[in-house]
Amino acid sequence: MYRRVTRCLLTSHITGRRMMSQQNLHGKVAIVTASTDGIGLAAARALGHRGAHVVVSSRRKGNVENAVALLQSENIQVTGTTCNVGKREDRESLVNMAVEQCGGVDILVSNAAVNPFFGNIMDSTEEVWDKILDVNVKAAFLLTKLTTPHMERRGGGSVVFVSSVAGYQPMQGLGPYSVSKTALLGLTRALAPELAHNNIRVNCVAPGVIKTQFSSALWHNEDIVEEFKKQLSIKRLGTPEDVAGVIAFLCSEEAAYITGETITVTGGMSCRL
Ligand SMILES: NC(=O)c1ccc[n+]([C@@H]2O[C@H](COP(=O)([O-])OP(=O)(O)OC[C@H]3O[C@@H](n4cnc5c(N)ncnc54)[C@H](OP(=O)(O)O)[C@@H]3O)[C@@H](O)[C@H]2O)c1
Repeated sequence: MYRRVTRCLLTSHITGRRMMSQQNLHGKVAIVTASTDGIGLAAARALGHRGAHVVVSSRRKGNVENAVALLQSENIQVTGTTCNVGKREDRESLVNMAVEQCGGVDILVSNAAVNPFFGNIMDSTEEVWDKILDVNVKAAFLLTKLTTPHMERRGGGSVVFVSSVAGYQPMQGLGPYSVSKTALLGLTRALAPELAHNNIRVNCVAPGVIKTQFSSALWHNEDIVEEFKKQLSIKRLGTPEDVAGVIAFLCSEEAAYITGETITVTGGMSCRL
């Protein structure tokens, strides 16, 4: 009996160690866009706590400085710069900086999105569509195109797109934004087989309603929140950390056989089979 318990403990100890090492991102460089707040910041923190050197960025210098200071205070290896993902020169200087200052790129978390429009989709303008598609979709692809040659040079890598539950079921009033998030589901599927040859995995997360500044219009009103919770199995709004853990998993060796996949992080909100 004693021997059996010892053997069991030893096995679980070894399994535990193996799991730890599979999650270990030491020596990896991770670019996370829009990472000075919300889901992006939580993702940078989750990757950083697993040992990755994280490159954080967003449009505003002050936000970047604050995020860098915060992550440094948690002993995370971090480099920061401003980057509006909708601007070509910003995307290029972000990737160049990661290569020059951190030695390369292994992970891209494409998290940035905008939503400049709320209303009936038939009232949305060409400018609205240009902005949403540029930032939410094109920039995600163009950053993938810029970073994957560097991943290839290091023997492989991982790309994670941040879509939304709205990508499966368009949200009322958020038509163009929802369509842009559906496009990311397609982009994931289109890229995965091509990049698998270079040992690069491409996956996606689709969060439900996560309590951040971006979704504040939804959770500022208690009545809306209560109504919304009826759609959930887990009766609370999500946190950035709920999503960040899944992103970190997808970037880790534990997910070595997962590509072209989207994981919903919704508290059980029904959006697909
Ligand atoms: N919150 C939700 O309920 C929810 C649900 C589903 C999906 N999502 C998705 O999750 C992602 C992150 O959203 P969040 O809720 O974490 O937002 P958030 O907390 O409001 O944070 C937004 C971040 O994006 C940065 N940013 C905004 N526009 C940018 C741009 N053009 N280029 C680079 N950085 C930019 C902001 O910093 P600066 O102002 O300094 O640029 C900030 O760091 C988005 O793709 C969103 O669509 C969110």
